[in-house]
Order: sequence, then structure tokens, then C-alpha cells
Amino acid sequence: MACREFYYLLPVLVLITVSLSLQIHGSKLSPDYYSRTCPKALSIVKEGVIAAIKNETRMGASLLRLHFHDCFVNGCDGSVLLDDNATFTGEKTALPNNGSIRGFGVVDHIKAELEKACPRVVSCADILAIAARDSVVYLGGPSWVVRLGRRDSLTANRTAANVFIPAPTLNLSALNSSFAVQGLSFKDMVALSGSHTIGFARCVSFRARIYNDTDINASFANSLKKKCPVSENNNVLQGLDYQTPFYFDNDYYGNLLVKKGLLHSDQELYNGNAADYLVKRFTKHSSDFFNDFATAMVKMGNIRPLTGKKGEIRVNCRKAD
Ligand code: HEM
Ligand SMILES: *[C@@H]1O[C@H](CO)[C@@H](O)[C@H](O)[C@H]1NC(C)=O
Ligand SMILES: *[C@@H]1O[C@H](CO)[C@@H](O)[C@H](O)[C@H]1NC(C)=O
Ligand SMILES: *[C@@H]1O[C@H](CO)[C@@H](O)[C@H](O)[C@H]1NC(C)=O
Ligand SMILES: *[C@@H]1O[C@H](CO)[C@@H](O)[C@H](O)[C@H]1NC(C)=O
Ligand SMILES: *[C@@H]1O[C@H](CO)[C@@H](O)[C@H](O)[C@H]1NC(C)=O
Ligand SMILES: *[C@@H]1O[C@H](CO)[C@@H](O)[C@H](O)[C@H]1NC(C)=O
Ligand SMILES: *[C@@H]1O[C@H](CO)[C@@H](O)[C@H](O)[C@H]1NC(C)=O
Ligand SMILES: *[C@@H]1O[C@H](CO)[C@@H](O)[C@H](O)[C@H]1NC(C)=O
Repeated sequence: MACREFYYLLPVLVLITVSLSLQIHGSKLSPDYYSRTCPKALSIVKEGVIAAIKNETRMGASLLRLHFHDCFVNGCDGSVLLDDNATFTGEKTALPNNGSIRGFGVVDHIKAELEKACPRVVSCADILAIAARDSVVYLGGPSWVVRLGRRDSLTANRTAANVFIPAPTLNLSALNSSFAVQGLSFKDMVALSGSHTIGFARCVSFRARIYNDTDINASFANSLKKKCPVSENNNVLQGLDYQTPFYFDNDYYGNLLVKKGLLHSDQELYNGNAADYLVKRFTKHSSDFFNDFATAMVKMGNIRPLTGKKGEIRVNCRKAD
């Protein structure tokens, strides 16, 4: 290419690069978004999260998952929090959510405290992003700087929740696709799956795996069959990390190495394919997992936020005005 043509193209290239990096890094959001308008926002959320986990340890996992289920459906916009009513159907009864997602009372409590300190300033979507980080930290995991300034949606989409939240029956390539459509990489997918080092799944979510999968430790499967019979006990809970479901460590990956992943989707990450090396690396070097997890959480939190005049700041996280 001749020099003259190159100089002509340079500003265009710079523009493309800048706008791409704005999209990728979600620069519309910023860590100090509330530093003047609600300086206590971060400490109020943290206090609420810690009190909730002290009352019920599992709540940390439940709050982390709420942020994920929010972000994968039309971006991190608090849509998952909207209640159904006579004229509105939200996401709470979508297949991956119904009878499964929890933590709404904790979010309500935190929101009420925020409304007392700074009315109509802090969004419900941001509460979820901060609560996810504070939960992980409290349970022993890595920390990261949460970018803020998301606004809340006026609506929700149950069909989109059914389409975009990955099911535990997915294979490796379908898992990769479901993260790729959100702008998340294969490595992000493997690292974020490490969330399953905490929390619980219902029998109905892992039944097909323990009865039909072959890549499962036989005595592990047999002990689970006692808890989770072929056609009963749908709601009986089992730790996703069978050893330390209340502690954010890297055991999730070690479990996969010995075929003790609880969900079919978990074990897909160690099945002789492209994710094996990451699972081995995260098992061997917890700090690699923590670093990649924190990076991926920031990326997930940047998925299509509503900013500027879009959406609103809800007063009640369960209802759009
Ligand atoms: C890779 C695809 C994923 C699939 C297929 C998946 C699927 C599931 C399923 C089926 C459950 C149990 C639900 C139930 O039986 O009630 C669950 C629980 C959980 N998931 Fe995932 N998940 C995925 C990724 C993620 C990500 C990216 C995060 C967070 C960033 C996450 C966080 C959690 C947590 C913390 C729990 C436990 C919640 C609790 O105990 O209340 N998951 N997941
Ligand atoms: C504490 O946790 C229990 C469940 O273990 C729940 O029923 C109760 O509402 C929680 N209390 C508060 C104040 O969050
Ligand atoms: C959600 O779960 C409830 C209780 O298990 C059930 O009655 C209802 O039909 C479910 N809703 C949908 C949309 O699946
Ligand atoms: C809801 O999501 C589905 C699946 O992505 C999409 O086809 C549909 O147009 C959405 N509905 C609305 C009202 O945006
Ligand atoms: C993964 O699942 C998808 C969707 O069900 C299917 O089309 C594909 O063939 C599967 N891939 C492999 C390698 O099994
Ligand atoms: C994951 O999906 C992306 C986007 O479709 C693709 O480029 C990449 O090769 C896939 N990676 C693996 C390991 O399947
Ligand atoms: C196991 O697979 C068979 C054949 O696909 C199916 O009929 C059965 O319902 C599956 N069992 C469970 C517990 O999912
Ligand atoms: C399955 O797990 C049991 C109990 O931890 C262990 O004793 C056994 O060696 C494992 N089986 C295989 C094939 O690894
Ligand atoms: C039903 O919920 C929607 C979404 O939160 C809200 O916009 C609407 O005002 C609610 N309707 C009633 C009667 O509360």
C-alpha cells in the first residue's frame, strides 16, 4: 500500500479501533460513577451482602448467579428482577429461572437502604454487579473493580431468558456459542463456569447426568442416585462442588479431572477437547483461575448496559415505573 493511501486511512483506522475498544471495555461504565451522588453506595451494598451471607451462606452463590442471569438476557439491566403481574410476564418463570433463582429479598433490602441514603440514584442492575463481586470476595475468591452506571430496564423478555441462558444439557461447542453471542471468549466461558465452585443444583438439573452419562465416577453417581431417584425429589439440592460448596476455591476444576462434575455442562469442560488444558491449568494454579475469573466477570458485567437516557433508576427493583 502506498504511503499516501495509508495516511488517508489512518484516521479511519483510529476511529474503528477506538470505537471497538469502547465496546469491548464497556467504557461507558466507570468505577467511581456514584462517588459524588452516593458515596456510601458500595459500602451499603457490601454490608447487605455480608449480613445476608452470614444469615445463609448459600446466598453468596445465589447473588452471583442473579448477575449472570441478568446479563445474559438483553444485557445487565436488572430485567431478571421484575415481578410478573396481571399484565406483565417477566423472566422469573423462564425455564432456567423458575423455582431456581433466589436472592430477591436481599436485593430489596439493599435497595431500601440505598433509597434511604440517596433516593433514585443507584440502579438495581448495579446492585447485582456489586453484590456478585462482594459475594465472591466474602467466600474466599478474587476481587475486581466493579464498573458502574448501568440503568434499569423498563421491561423483560421471558423468551430471551429461555433462549440465552445456557442449559446444563449443553455440549462444549454449544456452551462456547452461548458465551460467544454475548461477546465472551472460550476462556471466559471456562473461567466463569468456575462459579460452580459455590452453590447448589436441584436434582432435576443433574438427574440425566447421573443416570445416563458415562464420563462420571461410578461411586459418585451411585451416591447421588440415592438422593435423586429417577422420578422423585426434583428439588433436592446437591453442592455443585461436592466438597466445599460454600468456599470459592479452584476445587471445581479438580473435580472435573476425576469425573465428579455435577452438571453435564460442567464435565463437558474436561472431555478430551479444547478446554482440557484450561481445566488442568486452573486446577494447578489457583491464581490463574482467580485472574481469569475476575477479568471475565468485568467483561460479563459490561454486556450491553443501558446508559444515558435509556431505561430508568427503579425505586423498587421488582417493578418498572
Ligand atoms: C456455563 C454455562 C452454565 C450453565 C449450563 C449453568 C447451569 C446452572 C444450573 C443448572 C444450576 C443449578 C440450578 C438449579 O438446579 O436450581 C446452576 C447454579 C449456579 N450457577 Fe450456573 N451455569 C452456567 C454458568 C454460570 C455462570 C457464568 C455463573 C456466574 C458467573 C454461574 C453461577 C452459578 C451459581 C453461583 C449457582 C448456584 C446458585 C445457588 O446455589 O443459588 N453459572 N448453574
Ligand atoms: C435468613 O435465612 C433464612 C433461610 O436460611 C431465611 O428464611 C430468612 O428469611 C433469612 N433472614 C433474613 C433476615 O434474611
Ligand atoms: C414455575 O414453577 C411453578 C411451581 O413449580 C409451576 O407451577 C409453574 O407452572 C412454572 N411456570 C412455568 C412458566 O414453567
Ligand atoms: C424476546 O426475545 C426473543 C428471543 O430473543 C425475540 O425473538 C423477541 O423479539 C423478543 N421480544 C421482544 C418484545 O423484544
Ligand atoms: C453439540 O450440540 C449441538 C446442539 O445440540 C449439536 O448440533 C452438535 O452436533 C453437538 N456437537 C457435538 C460435538 O456433539
Ligand atoms: C468458540 O466460538 C468462537 C466463535 O464462534 C470460535 O471462533 C471459536 O473457535 C470457538 N472455540 C472453540 C474452542 O470451540
Ligand atoms: C436416559 O436416556 C434415556 C434414553 O435417551 C431416556 O429415555 C431417559 O429418560 C434418560 N434418563 C434420565 C434420568 O434422564
Ligand atoms: C471414584 O471415586 C471413588 C471415591 O472417591 C474412588 O475411590 C474411586 O477410585 C474413583 N473411581 C475411579 C474410576 O476413579
Ligand atoms: C406490572 O409490571 C410491569 C413491569 O414491572 C409494570 O410496568 C406495571 O406497572 C405493572 N402493573 C401493575 C398493575 O402493577
